[in-house]
Formats: sequence, structure tokens, C-alpha cells
Amino acid sequence: MAATTPRKILVTSALPYANGSLHLGHLLEQVQTDIWVRFQKSRGHDCIYVCADDAHGTAIMLTAEKLGITPEEQIAAMHREHEHDSAGFLVGFDNFHTTHSEENRYWCETIYQRLKDNDHIAARDITQAFDPEKELFLADRFIKGTCPRCKTPDQYGDNCEACGATYSPADLIDPVSAISGATPIEKESRHFFFRLPELAGMLAAWLDSGTLQPQVANKLREWTEAGLQEWDISRDAPYFGFEIPGEPGKYFYVWLDAPIGYIASFQHYCERTGHDFDSFWQEGADTELYHFIGKDIINFHGLFWPAMLHSAGLRTPSAIFAHGFLTVNGTKMSKSRGTFIKASTYLEHLDAEYLRYYFAAKLGASVDDIDLNLEDFVQRVNSDVVGKIVNIASRCAGFLSKGHDNRLSAGCAEEELLAGFLDRGDLIAEHYEQREFNKAIREIVALADRANQYIDEKKPWVLAKQEGTGSQVHDVCSVGINLFRILMTYLKPVLPAMAEKAEAFLGCSLDWCALDGPLIDHQLARFKPLLTRIDPKQVEAMVEASREPEPPAAAITAPAEVPEQDMIKFEDFARIDLRVAEIVAAEHVEGADKLLRLTLGLGELGQRQVFAGIKSAYQPEQLVGRLTVMVANLAPRKMRFGVSEGMVLAAGPGGEELYLLEPHDGARPGMQVK
Ligand code: MSP
Ligand code: ZN
Repeated sequence: MAATTPRKILVTSALPYANGSLHLGHLLEQVQTDIWVRFQKSRGHDCIYVCADDAHGTAIMLTAEKLGITPEEQIAAMHREHEHDSAGFLVGFDNFHTTHSEENRYWCETIYQRLKDNDHIAARDITQAFDPEKELFLADRFIKGTCPRCKTPDQYGDNCEACGATYSPADLIDPVSAISGATPIEKESRHFFFRLPELAGMLAAWLDSGTLQPQVANKLREWTEAGLQEWDISRDAPYFGFEIPGEPGKYFYVWLDAPIGYIASFQHYCERTGHDFDSFWQEGADTELYHFIGKDIINFHGLFWPAMLHSAGLRTPSAIFAHGFLTVNGTKMSKSRGTFIKASTYLEHLDAEYLRYYFAAKLGASVDDIDLNLEDFVQRVNSDVVGKIVNIASRCAGFLSKGHDNRLSAGCAEEELLAGFLDRGDLIAEHYEQREFNKAIREIVALADRANQYIDEKKPWVLAKQEGTGSQVHDVCSVGINLFRILMTYLKPVLPAMAEKAEAFLGCSLDWCALDGPLIDHQLARFKPLLTRIDPKQVEAMVEASREPEPPAAAITAPAEVPEQDMIKFEDFARIDLRVAEIVAAEHVEGADKLLRLTLGLGELGQRQVFAGIKSAYQPEQLVGRLTVMVANLAPRKMRFGVSEGMVLAAGPGGEELYLLEPHDGARPGMQVK
């Protein structure tokens, strides 16, 4: 590898809200960032990874109030928890700070002053919803009411969970404050705005500069082309944050001070370590700056943040790396399904490196969502990491300890094979550099296959039983160990703890920079298992521990009066052919986490196949032989798993709370329900 001058790189992950625990979605981002940082470090670069808690805002203030503690106590507790959880996943922050810090206050005030000096701050009065009881202005998500479209009660601020409508909170029927229940009033107050339209030219150039992922640049262009709006950067007291200098009762909006937290955390790091600060943040700095973020916050990082930095005379990021969202078993993480998995719950049941590997194997450079399929997770980790990679070392180690005192042979038997492994290094490094971790892993696993194939061909276990082949066994296994050393070096950014154990076994450090010739006549330590297989039971236990019953409220509350447009005529109802059906068979559907496949008998009308979303409530064997009620004249629907020829009727909010309807004794399959 060419020795170049080390790059100076500053890397961040988005600052998690101090309002809740970390879950696996947060960890997807931190693990992605951490792998990239560890890779850069192992290539000899000066790469610093900082993060912090995002500690301000109304939500944190309200949570603390509910818990009967101060916001400071709330954020201190979360800080400890977040730090502990990230460390549990081997995320190696060089600094983990908080936005509620003096460094951050200093930089918020400084940047705000510079924006003001540039005439980029406007002040004007606006009218907003106000909770007269709490004496608090209400953000959209703190207002609830009845959906103006479908009339479902208890919908939040600006969108309806029942029908998906989006609207302004002013359109809600009977709006109430979600905090106190009081009816909001309209109230005027003075706000401060960042005059983004003044920076339209700068932003257009930034979006065209090629530093953003194409999908991200396109999305942001849609927004800028629709016309940039001035951005409201102030909030009224009571608010947990920094007061705006010279404006009593006015606070910086949390999204203004949050990204500035990157600077503050880095400054805190520099003060601790004596590292140079200015070369990373001054305009024209020749250092690199990267932000890893989720796709939900690209407007803040791709528009507001570079505009603020530019106006304040600071450098803009070298790039912003946005990733997609984590889904579990193909759907949004869900508390009732047990797939909303907190970082700490995962760590109680499983080793962090299993998930680091799985994430790496799935992550590319795009903003596509990433699915954690729990069956695939078990299968893939067991087969790749344990079955292929660890296996190389474990199958060779035994022979080396037996006749050879754990010492590698004095010559290298397979120089070409080893050179082939080293040659792939540049390509693998390029994949890491481009955040194409999935491609890097694919290459590494292909090499592991080759290593295993080599051992299979040489059959040291056969040689070991023959006379006079001791040195051959020694050579083959020494080659195997050298191949393993190369693979573990490539994998070290992903599996740092396993790499450390491998280093202890190999008696050498696994640095990419130090990869040259093979280890020859080299002493190994005694081999100890590096990673054990995942038992699917551990995964089941984790899901069980994550499961929370869904609140039953929705099923029981009903609008007192049915609005006219929701009524159907008797003739409409009469068209629905409801029948008594016998559940003849019920089976799991492979790959579907909600559905059961039911075979329903309708007596003389024959049988129907129906996919019913009742898996969370019923075991298939509980159902067979029972009677239920089905819609028999529903047009067949093609689903991912087959055609569904009807629907069964069940009551309840969903999840585990779901109850199939059953006729009284005497009803027979095929009978019409009237
Ligand atoms: N506090 C803001 C970020 C401020 S950065 C100056 C925030 N916090 S967050 O806790 O909601 O999210 C932190 C990061 O985790 C974000 O990048 C977000 O996109 C990411 N994720 C949160 N849930 C996620 C998934 N389910 N999947 C992947 N990433 C997700 O936003
Ligand atoms: Zn609605």
C-alpha cells in the first residue's frame, strides 16, 4: 500500500435526542459511522469521531416534568445511558458530549452574532397556537383533535394516523392541547428567522457541487426550487435551551443549536487532548468533515447547516452521508410485535458483533432502508462468521498445537495464494471508503470460501494420520492461519473485539498498514474460541422482552354519533355475503410475520384460501376445527404470498388483542349470516 500523508478527518453521527433510549435504528447509524472511522484509523489516518446528546427542546422539558425531575437531571441520566449503550456496541467515540454545554452556548451565540452582523436574521411577529393553561406555545405535534377528513378522534397535529390525511393543526375539529387538554387559543409573539433565501445562490452551488449523494441532492433541490422560506430559529419561554442574547424570554430553537453541537463536542475534545481546533472549522480548512445522518434529517444538514456555516465564515462539510431507515422483519419497528428493540435489550441477549456484522453485510452507500430480518440474521452470522471465518482458524489451530507447539512453519508454502489475498486489499479498502460495506463483506466472504476450499483440498486431517507428512500438515495449517490473519485484518473495522482476540492468538496486531509478508516461524498463543453461534432462542427471548401490548383504547372508544357520510345504506350492507366458515387448516406463511394461511370450509360452497393478519394472536393449531365468520363475496386479492379469497372477521385493536368471531353452537359451515 502506498504510504501517503495521513488525512485529517472529523466524523460525526447525528446527535441522539436525550429524550429516550437508543434503539437498533440509532445503532445502525452509529455502527455505520464507527466502521468507517475504524477503517480510516487502521489505514493510518488522523480520524476523529465525535458525537453528543441533543439535550434541548420542549419534549425533554415535558418528560422531566412528568418524571418530577429537572431537565438537567433527565439529560444527565440519558447521557450515561447512551454512552453505555454505544460502548456496548463497540462504538468508539473519541468524544461524546452534550449540546447543553458551555462550548455549545459559546458557539451558538457566536454563530448567531455573525449571522446577525451579515443581516441574515429577521425579526417579526407571528401567530401560533397557545395553551392558556400551561402558558406555552404549542408545536403541531402537541395539538390533538378530530381528523377533518375521516373524523377519527384523538389525532395529532398535522396528520391522521387512521386515514393518512395531512393538514394544518388549525383544521383539526375540536383541537385540544396534548399537554393540558385545554383548548388552544391563538397568540402573537416575536420570532427570529434565519433568512435562507439570502443564501439561495450559495445553496444552489452547494447542491450542485457533487458532495451530496445524488438522491439527497435531488430531494433537496425539490425543496429549494419550490422556494426557500425563512427559517424560524427562536422559541418562546418556557423552553429548555439557550436564551438568545439580548432577547429575554426567547430561546434558540433546538435544531439551531443541535448541529452546532458537533463543533462544541469537537472543541471539548481538543481541550481535553490538545488537538488543533482551528484547522477543522475555519473557512478554507484543508481537513475533511463528514456527517453521518438518517434520511429524515437531510434538510437540516443539507440546507440550513451549510447555509449557517457559510454565513458565519466557517467551513462547510466535505460531504453528508445519509442512510436509510432500519426495518425489522420487513416492517417498521413495532412495540406490539416486539421488534422495537432497544439497544440495551439487544445487549442483554446477544453479542454486539453479530449485529455489527449483519449491518455491515447489508449497508451500502445509498439511502435505501435496511431490513433486519431476524431469521436471516441468525443464519448469515452463523454461516459466514462462525462457519467460514472463525472456522479457518479453529480447524488449523488444533493441528498446530498438537505436533508443532503453536509455531508456524519456517517457510511459506503458498506464496501465490497469499499474494492473491493481499491483492484484494485495495478493492476491499475502496469499498469501505465508499461506504459500500456490503461489497467489502462479499469480497471477504468469498476469500474465506477460498481459504476453506484450500484446506479442504489439502485435507490436513487425512495427512495427519499418515506417516511422514508432518511437515505438510504444518505448512498447510500455517498457510491457513496466515490467510485468516489477512481476513481478520480486513474485518477488524466491523469486528473489533473479535479482532482483538485474534490478535492475542496470532501474537501480532492486525493493522491494515502492517499487512505485508506472511508470519513465518512465528509463535502463536493457545487458540480460544472467537465467537459462538447464535442460538435462535436468544433472538426469540429478545423479541419477547421487547414486546409491549398495544393500548386497547382505539378499539373501545367509538364516535358517539356516526357522521352521515360514513353511513351505508341497507342495500350496501345486504350485498356483503357473510358466511359461517370452518377452519379446516391453518398454517404459518413463510416470510410473513403477520399472516396465517387459512383454509376455510363453506360446506357445499367448497373451500377458500384466506390470508388473515392474526398470527400475533393465534397459534395455527388453536384454530383448526373452529367455526368463524367470513366475507365470502370479497373479490380475490393477490397478495405477496398468494391469492386471498375472502376475509375472516375479528374484533380488537390488533397485535395480541385480536378475537375471531365465532357463531353459537348449532351453526354449520356455509350458512349465511344475516
Ligand atoms: N436529535 C436529532 C439529530 C440532531 S443532529 C444535529 C435526531 N435525533 S434522533 O434520536 O431522532 O435520531 C438520531 C439519528 O438516528 C438520526 O440520524 C436518525 O435518522 C437516526 N435514526 C432514528 N431512527 C432510525 C431508524 N429506525 N433507522 C435508522 N436510523 C434512524 O434526529
Ligand atoms: Zn383521518
